[in-house]
Amino acid sequence: MTRHLITSAIPYINGIKHLGNLIGSQLPADLYARYQRERGCEVLFLCATDEHGTPAELAAAKANQPVSDYCAAMHETHAQIATGFGLSFDHFGRSSSQQNHKLTQHFAGRLNDAGLIEEKNESQVFSVFDDRFLPDRYIQGTCPACGYENARGDQCENCTKQLDPTDLINPRSAISGSTDLEIRETKHLYLRQSKLRHKLDAWINSQTDWPVLTTSIAKKWLHDGDGLQDRGITRDLDWGIPVKRGDQPWPDMENKVFYVWFDAPIEYIACAQEWVDSGKGDNWHRWWRIDQGANDVRYTQFMGKDNVPFHTLSFPATLIGSGEPWKQVDYIKSFNYLNYDGGQFSTSLGRGIFMDQALEILPADYWRWWLLSNCPENSDSEFTWESFQIGVNKDLADVLGNFVSRITKFCRTHFGECVPDGGHYGNHETALVNELTQRIRDYENYMDTIEIRKASQELRAIWAAGNEYLQNVAPWTTIKDDLDAAAVQVRVALNLIPLYAILSRPFIPMAASRLLEAMNALGLEWPDNVRTALGVLPAGHPFTVPDVLFAKITDAQRENWQSRFAGA
Ligand code: MF3
Ligand code: ZN
Repeated sequence: MTRHLITSAIPYINGIKHLGNLIGSQLPADLYARYQRERGCEVLFLCATDEHGTPAELAAAKANQPVSDYCAAMHETHAQIATGFGLSFDHFGRSSSQQNHKLTQHFAGRLNDAGLIEEKNESQVFSVFDDRFLPDRYIQGTCPACGYENARGDQCENCTKQLDPTDLINPRSAISGSTDLEIRETKHLYLRQSKLRHKLDAWINSQTDWPVLTTSIAKKWLHDGDGLQDRGITRDLDWGIPVKRGDQPWPDMENKVFYVWFDAPIEYIACAQEWVDSGKGDNWHRWWRIDQGANDVRYTQFMGKDNVPFHTLSFPATLIGSGEPWKQVDYIKSFNYLNYDGGQFSTSLGRGIFMDQALEILPADYWRWWLLSNCPENSDSEFTWESFQIGVNKDLADVLGNFVSRITKFCRTHFGECVPDGGHYGNHETALVNELTQRIRDYENYMDTIEIRKASQELRAIWAAGNEYLQNVAPWTTIKDDLDAAAVQVRVALNLIPLYAILSRPFIPMAASRLLEAMNALGLEWPDNVRTALGVLPAGHPFTVPDVLFAKITDAQRENWQSRFAGA
């Protein structure tokens, strides 16, 4: 059995994420983790909050809180919402953890020893009033190109021109508004990624099975013009991981922290340590060190396409450059964007649905099913309320929900809440077993190769096969003159419910457990053999008719939500 290490890109801490963020990494990662657990594999599924960088500091300032308090509270919020969506992380860590501090400083020390860190002197804006250097976003001023007065040091939001802080007219501190600014010399660290170019190239070329989206982005960065530039890995911020080499101070680097994109992926490893330190795991080395057992781990990462360069180049550069035997990723599953109703999701405009709001209006499984079965796998995809209503009403309510309700109620009326005895398999039953056997193998193949849309289509077809079977054998007719034949039909159909629940659990875990509870069938395993699986509820087995599994979305609800989430 393979051991699976699975990570989702770690979401920025500043604010609650929208559904586009969710389907871009955490949700598909959860689907895969749940599936591999169902198949009996050992899984370590990790995610965390990405807590450093200017956005976190600025969000905390806006909320009028010390940044550490802001992050602690926001981490709890993220964790609760993740639980609400059924995201089954083995640990949900924090990039600000002490484990990550130590490990990030360790990597910086190793890279420095290997000659892969360059110290560069640079001119940077210093605010005398604030007594600190101001990174790009902390400086505002008038755009030299369009005259917009609130342009940021890195870019003018009005005309989109890329700027250098020194380009701004009348520059001022975004923190205090002070204009008492000077240009001072200061030192920064650069990771010499260019030195690792050949190793990275060879490594990426050896990945023959990666999705095109992943390799094309990686190769573009590696080969196009300004491809693999050395990268600044330090910033003048208070909040972050202090720059040290191992546990030694780094001369002239006091008051500096590592750049957020340097420490964030290292949290994937630190998170496994947090998992152990929190008492949930007992050994993280066997997941992360190939000299200590991780050589038979399969490591899969999930992320949006904007994250690909960091995961195919920068983070591997950190790991390779350390010269230590760290586990490298085996497969990178990346996603395009999910758009919202004719435009984009927008955090600043409040356009689209955010994770907390989604859970307020409908249970997690409704969202999970629609998002996964429409995920932006091969191109961008779009959330519309019409499509959501159709997906929920047809797939979940009409196909799956209706099948369950039809057969359980029919059984209750004619045989009681108990699996009926008698009868033998005929042609219809054999045909059903054959069809399901083939479809389940296909479903497994799509899940193994993480082809999520295809997997969801196959699952829907598996549900539909139940309705077709009922339609064909028509127990409501059979029962009029052959009670035995009706009994076998009902028994087969009832047994489809736990079979469906197990197969569907990675997609819709809450509904699946309600089904298993109703059918009084806990502790079942993956259906390796359909004929056996259709006998797990024997004659005489008691069950209860479950409540409505999925409520249909009405037109009134749809219209109401559509206007509510249209944004300012
Ligand atoms: N916070 C980043 C984002 O939301 C993702 C960081 S992934 C990691 O785009 F690799 F850095 F951890
Ligand atoms: Zn401008």
